[in-house]
Amino acid sequence: MEKVSNGDLDTVLIIKRNDEIGTLANSFNNMAEDLGRHRKHLEILVEARTAELSKANEQLQQEISERTKAEDELKRSQEQLRDLASHLQFIREEERGQIAREIHDELGQALTALKMDVHWLSHKLPQDQALLSGKIKSMSGLIDTTVQSVRRISSELRPKLLDDLGLSAAMEWQANEFMSRAGIQCNISSEPEDIILDQARSSAFFRIFQETLTNIARHAHATKVEVILQEDSETVELIVRDNGQGITERQIADAKSYGIIGIRERVHSLGGDLKITGAPNKGTTVQVRIPIGAQGGPK
Ligand SMILES: Nc1ncnc2c1ncn2[C@@H]1O[C@H](COP(=O)(O)OP(=O)(O)O)[C@@H](O)[C@H]1O
Ligand SMILES: [Mg+2]
Repeated sequence: MEKVSNGDLDTVLIIKRNDEIGTLANSFNNMAEDLGRHRKHLEILVEARTAELSKANEQLQQEISERTKAEDELKRSQEQLRDLASHLQFIREEERGQIAREIHDELGQALTALKMDVHWLSHKLPQDQALLSGKIKSMSGLIDTTVQSVRRISSELRPKLLDDLGLSAAMEWQANEFMSRAGIQCNISSEPEDIILDQARSSAFFRIFQETLTNIARHAHATKVEVILQEDSETVELIVRDNGQGITERQIADAKSYGIIGIRERVHSLGGDLKITGAPNKGTTVQVRIPIGAQGGPK
């Protein structure tokens, strides 16, 4: 009985008697056998359950590794997209520069030649041809305004200033253009006075600035714009603040806000960050910080 109580259920009491003790021994043996059966059954159940669990565990492991793989792939394709976007920006900038130069050079020369011819004609004309000389004068005026347009268009495509005099000068020029065309006051301050960056960064800042000004002209109903450009040892920061109706969170996050998406993409590809905030009827602030030097590549 002690053996049985210690777990050895195969032990059998051998007591061959016909009295109460014999009956007790029989009952005891039956009970021990019953217990043994139950224990075996339990063991089988546990084994089956364990097998199920380890199978489920295996499946989970597989799912996890598949998901990790999918995540890696997603990350890779996002990176590729980002690379593609910045490559396209680069190409676009190159092409704009080329078109700007061609417009400037080809049309510029043709217009200058035309201007000289008209000038020559005006001197060849007899004194009494008032009608013709009036016509020539207006042609000459038209040539002058066309020269101005060619300059403006090629500057907007790729400001020579940006390459020749740097970001601060080009932004100042753009701010003046904006003031005279949109009729909105625009103050710009640059600290230090001349900020000169590499081509990728200066293009990015300049295009972002153009987009924010266009947005102000188109959407803000502002009367004043404050622009701050500042550089410290690690970053260059641009802040454009208007006093218009204020952009909303929804407009900032809208998947169709392609202008803002473009700004974000440019900033992102240079390792910088973008903050846009709007307050109803108080205005909108766009803040861009881009690292210069080691972290963001060569300056
Ligand atoms: N300075 C601003 N003031 C008020 N609303 C603005 C300003 N800039 C942008 N928005 C709002 O954000 C939206 C998204 O801007 P953007 O992505 O540049 O697209 P788009 O200019 O083509 O409409 C605009 O349609 C406008 O509603
Ligand atoms: Mg826009």
